[in-house]
Amino acid sequence: MRLTTDALLTRGRCAVALSGGSTPRSVYQLLAAPAFRGRVRWSDIQFFWGDERHVPPDHRDSNYRMAVEAMLSNVPVPPANVHRMRGEVPAELGAREYDGVIRECVEGMPVPRFDVIHLGLGTDGHTASLFPGTAAIEEQERVCVANWVTTLNAYRITMTLPILNAARAVVFIAAGAGKSTIVQRVLRESAELSPLPAQRVRPSDGELWWMLDQAAAGELT
Ligand code: 6PG
Repeated sequence: MRLTTDALLTRGRCAVALSGGSTPRSVYQLLAAPAFRGRVRWSDIQFFWGDERHVPPDHRDSNYRMAVEAMLSNVPVPPANVHRMRGEVPAELGAREYDGVIRECVEGMPVPRFDVIHLGLGTDGHTASLFPGTAAIEEQERVCVANWVTTLNAYRITMTLPILNAARAVVFIAAGAGKSTIVQRVLRESAELSPLPAQRVRPSDGELWWMLDQAAAGELT
């Protein structure tokens, strides 16, 4: 919340990219709860997604659906402030479309600068839909691409490293003992030889935060 408040105070606008998966659900529910809801200037924030599955918005796996159910449907965000990745169209079309939406809606040249990008962490070290060994990791021009993920046998639509690393703040969220080993690897292992995708998220002029519960931090020395 401090990050969004700072953005609104200093620039009068705020662009936030939400992460998907299951971990953020409880965080989003908390932000939308009566105790917190009043502390966020919802109507002044533009909401985006860092990635999306190749599914329609009402699909149970949709990151958009998760965020709307957990948070956005319970707070006063104008619909025009919610910028959904269209997972129901061919992935390349959805990605190209969203690349344009980001460049149109988010300030910053040559790369748009988000104020806050939330990211999750997979046990293989992926983040957003930048999975190890996939083409999207090496994308240096586009800010959003379609990414074929062999291990899932599915396309994903995902933001790329250039836009993640242009953010004013990136906040990783990881919870549960199942993430303790990968958290330790990402934070403690050298990223020189073959960095994990999450290790390549290093904002060039921004803050990098890790929000961990005790279980996910369990192997950190
Ligand atoms: C997605 C995500 C992905 C997610 C991690 C962790 O679309 O799945 O964006 O990067 O954050 O896979 O997922 P969990 O929170 O479900 O462990």
